[in-house]
Amino acid sequence: MITARSIDEARAALAAARTHGAKIGFVPTMGFLHEGHLSLIDEARALGATYIAVSIFVNPLQFGPAEDFEKYPRDEVRDAELLKERGVDLLFLPAVAEMYPAGASTVVRAGAVAAPLEGERRPGHFDGVATVVMKLFNIVQPDIAAFGRKDAQQCAVIAAMVCDLDVPVQLLFGETIRDDDGLAKSSRNTYLSAEDRRRAPALHRALRAGEEALRHGIDDVASIELLMRKMAAETDGVDVDYLALVDPETFRAPIDMHRELLLAGAVRIGKTRLIDNIVVPRRELP
Ligand code: PAJ
Repeated sequence: MITARSIDEARAALAAARTHGAKIGFVPTMGFLHEGHLSLIDEARALGATYIAVSIFVNPLQFGPAEDFEKYPRDEVRDAELLKERGVDLLFLPAVAEMYPAGASTVVRAGAVAAPLEGERRPGHFDGVATVVMKLFNIVQPDIAAFGRKDAQQCAVIAAMVCDLDVPVQLLFGETIRDDDGLAKSSRNTYLSAEDRRRAPALHRALRAGEEALRHGIDDVASIELLMRKMAAETDGVDVDYLALVDPETFRAPIDMHRELLLAGAVRIGKTRLIDNIVVPRRELP
């Protein structure tokens, strides 16, 4: 595995791979890797990527002023080991000054799908994501780029960007990887105390309750959302940010309850903010 800290080094490694006919798969991350990240490497390979590039960059542009940029968990040595074991070819590990040299001021403004839910609670977050992902795409120029459905709205923001700005890349959206009790794996789970960790599956349970109700034919948005809140309230110490039933294309209230639906939620447990979602395919609706 080659580790590149500069854009030039990364470009040189990728150019060499391309001359050998490599099909480049790319997994952008913020590090502190877990099986959710690593599964995306396998999925990119399964889709035909023959050379895998992974970036680790905690992107300051996507953190709000009161958010956890400084204390976001980092472990370069362990991450590099995991990537090497998984057969990754290139690890791109730029410093903030490499990605945003003094004076850099051009940004990508995320599209309409960035406005509700996460976008409403985290102003500027998706512009920061879109900007860094566009830069990473321009550096790596991947054939395939993989993102996790755990961050469903992020997937939609990137899909819209790729479409709107004609970015020549094939996107892959990987399944959410969970712990046995349903909690979606996340680098931020490391913030949870033992007590908070016991509470954390309440988010997934609430979404599951919403899914169950939809399967049973309840098709009223307010009732489903209330039910999810009631389920979350059964665990103390779980502070609901939102629990919403939305259209998976717009992330706003569905206009047609007989098409694919998305149950999405964000909760605070102690100082940790967790997000999760479940897609309910049309065929599973009565
Ligand atoms: P990060 O949170 O490190 O996640 C990197 C990728 O892993 C994202 O595509 C995310 O959706 C995916 N992922 C995280 N947890 C997952 C899980 N439990 N199952 C499946 N996939 C999972 O998302 C980001 O970083 C950043 O916003 C980034 C796209 C790198 C831009 O800075």
